[in-house]
Amino acid sequence: MTAEHEHGAEDHVARNYDHIADRYAVHFCDELERKAFDRLMLDWLVDRTRSGTLCDLGCGPGHVAAYLARRASSVVGIDISPRMVAGARGRYRGITFQQGNMLDLDGVLEATFAGISCFYSIVHLRRDQLRDAFREMHRVLTPQGWLLLAFHVGEERCHVREFLGRTVDLDFQFFLPGEICKALEKAGFTVREALLREPYAGAEVETQRSYIWAQRA
Ligand SMILES: C[S@@+](CC[C@H](N)C(=O)[O-])C[C@H]1O[C@@H](n2cnc3c(N)ncnc32)[C@H](O)[C@@H]1O
Repeated sequence: MTAEHEHGAEDHVARNYDHIADRYAVHFCDELERKAFDRLMLDWLVDRTRSGTLCDLGCGPGHVAAYLARRASSVVGIDISPRMVAGARGRYRGITFQQGNMLDLDGVLEATFAGISCFYSIVHLRRDQLRDAFREMHRVLTPQGWLLLAFHVGEERCHVREFLGRTVDLDFQFFLPGEICKALEKAGFTVREALLREPYAGAEVETQRSYIWAQRA
């Protein structure tokens, strides 16, 4: 695989996740069992939205969507990687999974979702793509709808050549909570809470995590 810049960057990310989709599922599908804080955040999302459809954006193997679906009436998972989507469909029957790019959710109508969870999926965006991603999330949320974002805290962009024992070519972008809050407000959101947690030692990559709650104004 070769690095691609500017054009086709999202296709490039998708191909990389296609390449590791099966291993990613084996490694991460049960991770919520070890992550009490993440479960609490997802429980809040269900409590805060009560009715309406939830979307797990950048759903990967589908485990977050499956957690939500056990508590909410209607859940959709969206991911840019066709193999991630195919794996999620096979694993969690009864939940709708579809391919889509968070920068342009073509075919998703305005005000479709009461809530969006987006766990570690903005990590492949460049800073200058946040505006398009957040505008699109704002568009597809209902008025007063909730967005829950999770990401790694920092300023760096890390290039990764090997992931889960396979060769990849992926950049991981870290963000500061303040810059994310600003970008969300610019896209029309009202930021309600910005939370931090330390990593679960031994259970995940040792980075500080941020969870931001924003509401469509
Ligand atoms: C680090 S994984 C996180 C997956 C899952 N949310 C989790 O918590 O394990 C990032 C996921 O985001 C997806 N992704 C990356 N860029 C995307 C985009 N522009 N639109 C939709 N999904 C994207 C990838 O295909 C991958 O499944």
